[in-house]
Amino acid sequence: MEFIKQLKERAAANKQRIVLPEGTEERTLSAADIILSEGFANIILIGSPDKIGSEATRLGLKNIDKAVIVDPNNHPKLDDYANYLYEIRQSKGLTLEEARKLVTNPLYLSVLMIKNRDADGEVAGADNATGDVLRPAFQIVKTLPGISVVSGAFVMILNNKEFGENGMMVFADCAVHPDPTARELAEIAVASASTARSIAGFKEPRIAMLSFSTKGSAKHAMVDKVVEATKIAKEMAPELLIDGDLQSDAAIIPAIGTKKAGNSPVAGKANVLIFPNLECGNIAYKLVQRMANAEAIGPVLQGMAAPINDLSRGCSVSDIVNLVAITANQAAGI
Ligand code: ACO
Repeated sequence: MEFIKQLKERAAANKQRIVLPEGTEERTLSAADIILSEGFANIILIGSPDKIGSEATRLGLKNIDKAVIVDPNNHPKLDDYANYLYEIRQSKGLTLEEARKLVTNPLYLSVLMIKNRDADGEVAGADNATGDVLRPAFQIVKTLPGISVVSGAFVMILNNKEFGENGMMVFADCAVHPDPTARELAEIAVASASTARSIAGFKEPRIAMLSFSTKGSAKHAMVDKVVEATKIAKEMAPELLIDGDLQSDAAIIPAIGTKKAGNSPVAGKANVLIFPNLECGNIAYKLVQRMANAEAIGPVLQGMAAPINDLSRGCSVSDIVNLVAITANQAAGI
């Protein structure tokens, strides 16, 4: 796929260290082997070196010796990491003893490595639930300045090239924050504009704040939230093209956009769709993926102070390779 090829080329030009905490998991190891053979990122695998070695042999992988392997029970900085974790989480009731135990958990160790600049980004989730991957990241690296919530965007690649940017669109939040306030929804929109630029390569993100109402056609507290979020997003980033409340047809079909929201800079030509809550976003991206046979690339986590991305447990080897390419681009700040 051209999009992924470009991401890999950009990543290869500025190689980052991506840590894979599920280093003994079969699909993760196979993905690491492909990434190392293609050479677009440096890979750190967390797991027992013996287990990684025997799995690599069993799977016939030829490139794993190019990875850095970190034994979670034997990392030279475990004490430093435990002290740091205790320092930042003691106010939340964490004891030093608990911190010492937590740092040997690969999902905590990987985030502490990133925080300590011993790695540049992380991809996990082939073997662990979303909450278990995200919690250490929320606790340790936290969010970017001005952003209080992490959210998850998908780059959707549609067969119908009339939509978005030659068939490419960004959908958010489809993965993380169940019920955002108006302020949080505004932050999700602003963060999605960055993802649209840096990952999807859109020069001009055009952001539709979706609702079941277009320009006040329906009255409801849910519509009020979207209207308020649009106002806040415009204040946060006055340079962005952003509009709402818009129904999805008014957002993406030019004739309907013109009819329902005539002077909107976004209606009819949106390339970024912001859903009012996670139910809408998650349901919508999966329906488009299945019913329109679209590629759904992500979730790309946005708003986090370091690039950490979560896989679905049903992921394929190529899903992991692709998400590492995205994470490497985020880490390089490309
Ligand atoms: N952004 C930033 N920080 C957050 C966020 C967020 N979106 N959500 C929680 N946090 C922080 C909290 O402030 C808290 O920090 P603190 O301990 O320093 O005070 C910490 O994370 C833990 O907060 P909890 O409310 O206890 O969060 P919990 O860990 O229970 O849940 C989670 C977070 C797992 C992300 C939850 O919101 C969730 O389950 N979301 C849905 C995920 C999901 O199932 N998505 C659909 C599947 S993914 C897919 O289909 C692609």
